[in-house]
Order: sequence, then structure tokens, then C-alpha cells
Amino acid sequence: MEPVAAFPQTSRRPATPLAGAITVPGDKSISHRALMFAGLAVGETRISGLLEGEDVLRTAAAMRALGATVERTGPGAWRASGPGIGGLQSPDDVLDMGNSGTAARLLCGILASHDIFAVMTGDASLRRRPMRRVIDPLGATGAVFTAREGGRLPLSVRGTAEAMPLSYRLPVASAQVKSALLLAGLNARGVTEIEEPEPTRDHSENMLRHFGAEVDVVSHGTGKLIRLRGQPELRGADVVVPGDPSSAAFPIVAALIVPGSRVTIEGVGLNPLRTGLFLTLREMGAAIEIVNAREAGGEPVGDLIVTASDLRAVDVPADRAPSMIDEYPILAVACAMARGTSRLRGLAELRVKESDRLAATLAMLAANGVKAHVEDDDLVIAGGGARGGATVATHMDHRLAMSALVLGLATETPVTIDDARFIDTSFPGFLPLMRGLGAAIEAAA
Ligand code: S3P
Repeated sequence: MEPVAAFPQTSRRPATPLAGAITVPGDKSISHRALMFAGLAVGETRISGLLEGEDVLRTAAAMRALGATVERTGPGAWRASGPGIGGLQSPDDVLDMGNSGTAARLLCGILASHDIFAVMTGDASLRRRPMRRVIDPLGATGAVFTAREGGRLPLSVRGTAEAMPLSYRLPVASAQVKSALLLAGLNARGVTEIEEPEPTRDHSENMLRHFGAEVDVVSHGTGKLIRLRGQPELRGADVVVPGDPSSAAFPIVAALIVPGSRVTIEGVGLNPLRTGLFLTLREMGAAIEIVNAREAGGEPVGDLIVTASDLRAVDVPADRAPSMIDEYPILAVACAMARGTSRLRGLAELRVKESDRLAATLAMLAANGVKAHVEDDDLVIAGGGARGGATVATHMDHRLAMSALVLGLATETPVTIDDARFIDTSFPGFLPLMRGLGAAIEAAA
């Protein structure tokens, strides 16, 4: 359900540099998974630092509708428990996953291997996104999925309690698909085997082990082979959610491109399968220092000290995409401000995100006077600064909205976005947090 009125915002060059120390909300990927695994496990899981954005709240509501106990006990603090593997029940209404591809796709995996009938839908953005990538392989469990033409939501599923274990090679590098198959494999009799040609974020594998499942991961060519033994006894296990590196990306790039800035971001998740952006920004000459490196809840975490930097162009190889797949719109902003022409390679997957992010990122740059074009699946961006002055269409896409507002902090004239509402899907509190650092962002006139 979309909120009622559009919420346009304008950002402009601030009079003074950005400064301060902040934390960003909890990691979205880990938050979804924590609620799902906890809602399948026997015994209580306490979660701290949960992202309370719209996307994750949809997962909480869906798990509740399936019979899990999911309660909020304080800010970011949640308690959840479940009936054990195979014990969830049919929801008595449609599951509405809002804007969240992760919630929708991972849940398909849970539903496939339960004796459940369910119907799932989402908002206009999610209803455009491809679901065949999960429902086709999940069909081999014995579950029956029926979707709208083109494999789009709404869909219905008649799951099976006698699920066959899957053996599947991922045709696209997708942690969502991998995780959906692992979730289905939890209630299959036997070993689920997934081959991923390129490594993608491994939060599901880490968390499965944390909850007591047996998961083996071995290197396999350029990727990995993952094996999960079905029907383990999942036991509740507390989860500490680190700050989301994909959210930290926005204040980081803002600090880099507003001259004189210095910003500290505390408690950011640094799982190496998520940190492609930090590597890329450093290649561009960004001053990003990691201090206080530590572990929290089984994931590496650190504090980042970011100082405004003179950025130079970069050539990002296609095989880095899985480790920074959500960060291309904000990287494009950094490239627009860098010296020289950048090439971001292998971005086909961006076409099926919350919006067609490749087209929308290009449109955002072009409208604000940046010379850029798409060549096959590469985005080529001529740096050197940007004029600004446009109203950017955000297409129900939180990351485009935040990227365009960060762009406006460094353009000659202000940048406006048509709608800031969707920012809440992943980064509630983004506007006040950025304003607290000194960013000049206000309601559009
Ligand atoms: C996610 C995986 C990525 C990413 C999304 C979150 C996850 O999607 O874009 O925001 O939590 O597994 P794909 O698996 O489709 O690449």
C-alpha cells in the first residue's frame, strides 16, 4: 500500500562542511533473515538493532500471519519464536510484501516446503519485478506456484510438506534466489545443493549455522558450492544486527563530495561480500579509514571515518557487482563528481531492482547535466561536477531518492526529488540524520 501524498524534497550545497558522528539503521538483509529464521526456530530469539523500515516490517507481519510469534520490545529490539521447521500455517489473508523483493522472494522459499496455501502481492514496483527466478526452481520441490503473466506478483502457492531437496546452479548472481532455495531446503528430506557461479552475500549461510543447521560451503571454480542438510532442529539464537553498509553508502559519499567534510559512521557491517563500494571509492582516492574493527553477531563490523576527497575516475569490473549491487546509483553520484570518465561494468541486474535502476540512474545524471551513457550493460560517466537543477523521478525506489539528494549537495544549483516517501523502506530517519550532519535538504517549494 503506497502512502498517500508524494513528498518532494530539495537538496543544495550546504554553507558549511558536513561533520559529526552517526550510526545508520540495521542491515536490511540480515534483519529480514533474522525474523524469518527466528520465526521457524523453536525457542526464543532476541534481535537487537533490527531495521524498522517498511520492508522489514512486511517480513515481521508475514511471519506473524504464518503463525510465528514476533514482538517488538523496544527500539530495534524484537523477540521472535516459531513452531519449528515445517510448523507454519496458512495465512488467512493475502501476504502483502510492499516494496520488498527480498521479503517476497525469501518467503516463497519458506512457503514452498510447508503444507500451506498462500497468496502474495506487493506494491506497484514489486508487482513489476521478476519472480520466475525463484518460483521456477522452487517448483522442483513439488510446490505449485501460479503467477501473473511474466512471472509477476500476485502469485499463489500450494506448498508441500514432502518437499524434494533441490540441486540447482544459479543462472544469475542472486543472494535472494540462493536464500529462497536454502529456506525451502530446510524442510526437504535430504541435502539441498546450490552452485553459485559468483559469490553473493552469505548472511543466510551464516545465520543458518547460527541457528543450528548444517551448511557446508566449498569453493567451486569462481564461485561456491553450498550444501544444506534438510530438517535440522533450528533453535532460537540471539542476533545482533550491524549497521547496513548499503545505507552507510549515502552519508559516506555525501562526506566525500562536500568539501571540507569529516564524518564518522559507527558500527557498519563489513562483510567482505558487501563492501565492493568501499573498495571502489578507495580506488577513486577516497579517504575512508576503518577503526575499531570488531565482530558483532558473527559479522565483521567497524567504524568508518570519511574525509572529503579529491576523487578520480574508476573502472569497476563486472565481477565486483554482487558485492555492491545496491550501491551503483550512489557510486554514479561519486563518479559524476570525480575527475575523468568512469566505467561501471556488468550492470544488467540493475534493470530488475525496485526500478530499472540503470535507466533511472542515467536519467538522474543526464537531467542534472552529467554526460553519461549506457553501453551494453555498462554505465559510462564523465565526471567533473554537475549543474543540477532538475527534478528527479524516483520511481518508488528508495536508493534513487537518496542518491539524488546526495547529488544535490554538490551541484551548482539544487536538485529536487519527486517523492521521498520510499526512503523509509530501508532508511527511516535518513532526512533528519543527514540534516544533523549539516546537509541542506528541505521540503521542495
Ligand atoms: C539482497 C540481495 C540483492 C540486493 C537486495 C538484498 C538480499 O538482491 O539487491 O537489496 O538480502 O539477499 P539480488 O539477490 O536480487 O541480487
